[in-house]
Amino acid sequence: MEQERVVISIGGSIVAPPNLDTTYIDSLARLLVDLAKDRKLFCVTGGGWIARQYIEAGRSFGADEEELDLIGIAATRINAQLLIAALSKYTEVPVRPLASVDATVESAEGYRIAVMGGTYPGHSTDYVGVELAVKAGAKRFVNATNVDGVYSADPNVVATAEMYKDITVDALIKMMGVEWKMAGTKAVIDGPALKLIREKRVPTFVVNGRNLPELSKALQGQEFHGTRITFPDAAPAPKPGAAAAAPASPRR
Ligand code: UTP
Repeated sequence: MEQERVVISIGGSIVAPPNLDTTYIDSLARLLVDLAKDRKLFCVTGGGWIARQYIEAGRSFGADEEELDLIGIAATRINAQLLIAALSKYTEVPVRPLASVDATVESAEGYRIAVMGGTYPGHSTDYVGVELAVKAGAKRFVNATNVDGVYSADPNVVATAEMYKDITVDALIKMMGVEWKMAGTKAVIDGPALKLIREKRVPTFVVNGRNLPELSKALQGQEFHGTRITFPDAAPAPKPGAAAAAPASPRR
């Protein structure tokens, strides 16, 4: 039987904070290798602190948004290369971050884990993760970030912010929109990614990537502490005698 495929988007803030935490990266790598024994894992790394520092510097020179996105993409790839270094201690992975979603999907033929960074301007690595989930036919998309889930406000700023155990994709889109705003934008999941999640009905979980036991549960599709994105607007059952409608998503 085909093994399940799972996509994880690892925020740059957790893989590469200003002071690199190699102990954490090593533990994350061991968890991923362990879980990849029973499934194929596709990992996308964000740009985090490096991306923001470099984007800010580029902006001071008057670089346009597309150029700044390209700077951000370069940062996502250095983080991907670092994760590859950590994973390579335990397993064989492609030696460079894969350059495109298609190349990453194809790598599943020969590897249990593949790592990539960003692709092209106009969105964050969250979008890349969703695209990967769609093209790889992944069972779930796990967005590992630096807070426990989706909150009513930024929990680092608003002490009373509440975490949603689940939230509809439409409510999230209402909160965040579907547009790409600017290079280095900080959001739990960016607008273009939300739009694709909604369109393709990608099962999406948001979890704190530094909490490895909860991340492990989310990756395995078990109950976890975090947020599930839901799709309440399921198509109504077809009327008796009506021709079956095409499924909303070929993945499910
Ligand atoms: P991310 O925004 O994905 O990094 O990429 P992050 O903030 O660490 O990720 P999350 O939100 O925590 O998961 C950094 C920047 O690189 C550019 C964008 O400018 C983005 O803000 N980028 C990244 C692209 O233009 N295209 C991509 O495919 C990925």
